[in-house]
Amino acid sequence: MTRRSVLIGSGSALPRRALGNEELAKMVDTSDEWIAERTGIRNRHVAGPDETTSSLASAAAKAAIAAAGIDAKSIDLIVLATATPDQTFPATATIVQNELGCNGGIAFDVAAVCSGFLYALGVADSMLRTGMAERALVIGAETFSRILDWEDRGTCVLFGDGAGAIVLEAREEEGEKQRGILATKLHADGAHNQLLYVDGGPSTTGTVGKLRMKGNQVFKHAVTNLADVLREVLAMSGTEAADIDWVVPHQANARIIEGTARKLGLSMDRVIMTVDQHANTSAASVPLALDAAIRDGRIKQGQLVVLEAMGGGFTWGASLLRM
Ligand code: UT7
Repeated sequence: MTRRSVLIGSGSALPRRALGNEELAKMVDTSDEWIAERTGIRNRHVAGPDETTSSLASAAAKAAIAAAGIDAKSIDLIVLATATPDQTFPATATIVQNELGCNGGIAFDVAAVCSGFLYALGVADSMLRTGMAERALVIGAETFSRILDWEDRGTCVLFGDGAGAIVLEAREEEGEKQRGILATKLHADGAHNQLLYVDGGPSTTGTVGKLRMKGNQVFKHAVTNLADVLREVLAMSGTEAADIDWVVPHQANARIIEGTARKLGLSMDRVIMTVDQHANTSAASVPLALDAAIRDGRIKQGQLVVLEAMGGGFTWGASLLRM
C-alpha cells in the first residue's frame, strides 16, 4: 500500500467579461490575425472591479468541492498559487479559507508565477503523503489584467484572468493502476529572472508594478525546458510517452505547446488546448485546462495525465498522475 494524493474533484471560474482579439485591436496597435497566428489566442477574460483573485479562487474551489461531493469543512490544507494576490499579505489562501468556512487548517500562497500550480501541487502532495494533511485544495488563481501595461502590445494581448482548483485526498493505493500523483519534478533558474518580471514590489518601489517580458527569449527556453522536464518526470515513474493519455500544458502559446509535443513525439490529439479561449492565465492556466477536459469527458478516471508549465523566474515543472 502506498499513500498517494488522489484527485477527487476539479472546478474553475472565469470573470464575466470576455475580451476578444477584435475588441483588443481597438485598444492597442495589434490585429486578430497577428495574435491568433503567433499565439493561438482568440479570447481572454478580464476581471471587473468586483472580481478579485480571491473571489475567482473561491468560486473555483467551491466548484471543485461540489464535484468531489465533500464537505468544505473537511479541507485541512489550502495551497494557492498566484502572482496577483488580493493584498501583499495576508495570503490569498486565508481569504479563500474563510470564504469556504474551513478555518483552522493550513493555508498559504505559493509564488512561482506561471509554474505556480505545479509548485503548489508538489508542495500539497508532499504534505499529504507525509501525513500533515488529509484533504487539500490546490488552487491557481490570477488577475493579471491588473498588472498589465495596456499600452504594451507585446504583452497585454497575451494574458487573461481566471482560476482553477482541484481537491486532493490522501488515500492508500495499491497495484499497478494506483491512482494519484505518481511523480513531480520542479526546477528554477534565477539567472533569467529579468526576462519575465514585474517592475515593482513592496520592498523596491513600494508599488505593484507592471509585467515586462522579453517574449522571444522566453519562447526559446520554454520548449527546451518543458520537453526536458516531461522526459524527467516520465523517467522517474518508468512511463513511456506512448503511455500518456493526456498532456495538460501551460497555456501560454499554441506554438510552444505544439513544439513541446513534437519533441516528445506526442500527437496533438492527446493535448488539451484552451489557450484560444483563456489566453495565458499564469498559475490558473493548467487547472483551468484540466477542469475543462474533465468536465467535457475527455479526461476520465484511470487515465494517465501529465501536467507541465514554465514561467517567470524561470521556474518550470511537470507532474504525472493517474486520475
Ligand atoms: O507564461 C510563460 C511565459 N510566457 C511565454 O511563454 C511567452 C513566450 N513568448 C511568446 O509567446 C512569443 O515570443 C510572443 C507571442 C510574445 C511574440 O512572438 P514572436 O514571434 O517571438 O515575436 P517578436 O517578439 O519577435 O516580435 C515580432 C514582431 C515585432 O515587430 P518587428 O520588430 O519585427 O517589426 C513586434 O513589434 O511583432 C511585433 N509585435 C506585434 N505586432 C502586432 C509584438 N507584439 C505585437 C502585437 N501585434 N500584439
